[in-house]
Amino acid sequence: MAPIKYAFESHHRPGRHWTTKQKDKLRCELRAVGEASLPSVPNYNCFSESPTAFDNKVMVIAREGGSTGRIVAFVSCILLTIDGIGTVLHTGLTCVLPEKRRQGLQGRLFTHLHRLLCAEYPSGIWFSSVSSSLCSLVSLLLATSNVFPSPDVVTPQDTHVRIATAISQNHRAELDIEGDVTFDPERFLFYSSPDSPWWKDPANKDYHHRNKILNNFYVSAMEQVTGSEVLQVGFMDPMLYLRVGRTSIRVAHASTAYSVLEYGSKLSELLSMIGSHFLSSRSFWRRFTNLRKWSLYQQMLRVKMEVKN
Ligand SMILES: CC(C)(COP(=O)(O)OP(=O)(O)OC[C@H]1O[C@@H](n2cnc3c(N)ncnc32)[C@H](O)[C@@H]1OP(=O)(O)O)[C@@H](O)C(=O)NCCC(=O)NCCS
Repeated sequence: MAPIKYAFESHHRPGRHWTTKQKDKLRCELRAVGEASLPSVPNYNCFSESPTAFDNKVMVIAREGGSTGRIVAFVSCILLTIDGIGTVLHTGLTCVLPEKRRQGLQGRLFTHLHRLLCAEYPSGIWFSSVSSSLCSLVSLLLATSNVFPSPDVVTPQDTHVRIATAISQNHRAELDIEGDVTFDPERFLFYSSPDSPWWKDPANKDYHHRNKILNNFYVSAMEQVTGSEVLQVGFMDPMLYLRVGRTSIRVAHASTAYSVLEYGSKLSELLSMIGSHFLSSRSFWRRFTNLRKWSLYQQMLRVKMEVKN
């Protein structure tokens, strides 16, 4: 059987140029995915009937079969304005139809999201995310950098704290978090309720990530209060993606990419140090290339001699 093809469309603040008819049509299509994926569909994010609902959204939509096919998955992020930081991307809501889950669609949506963000925010953008779904928490951690809470960042920095405080104080409605839900500012946890339509029991293996160590990290963060959700704050860094033609591909997990970058800069430092003592790095490479040419020439001569003999 031929693999199903998906068409991905990416939108940055689409409400600013879409007609009312386009917005209404898309809202209906997204609601259909929400109804099939969630216990109830709240009047928030891309489901909201507000005429400006799509103005502050960054969205990636997957359609089955081609650009006119039915929507099978989407991610709808919200752009928040936070004092002293600027624009922060809240990852918002990701929905994949139940029959399409565990086939990598969430991963593919986020690859397209990162590509869009590299183009729109070439210097990177701070992000936040609230979830108790382990595969969402771990996947996001692996694709971004400087995430608190995570095994790499044990104490929040000033920017993490500012963003978390602003979200808890001023942006709950946009994130569909009730005013009476307690926020733990030290551990970045919202003590929601197991009855919340968003809460995923960390024991449910359907929502686990393949990386067991990172699953366990977030399980132990949430296990003290049933119903907890983690607020992740971090940085989406285009340095983690290589530009290839007009697009970008992910290099690796943040720590690997940074090691490569660090290695590159250490190597060039070393070369210029050698250069200042002996020769410039350019002439080093010229001599190195000449040496290679010389050894190839020697090999050719040897082959010719052998043929002659
Ligand atoms: C959470 C949700 C978006 C995940 O979507 P999905 O398409 O099933 O996710 P993926 O297939 O991309 O898998 C995500 C991770 O789960 C793990 N996973 C997927 N299939 C797996 C399998 N068969 N066995 C073990 N682990 C698996 C992997 O670690 C994978 O990431 P990786 O491929 O980079 O290792 C989806 O379950 C959903 O829509 N749930 C309802 C709405 C919701 O709760 N959204 C989250 C809060 S916003």
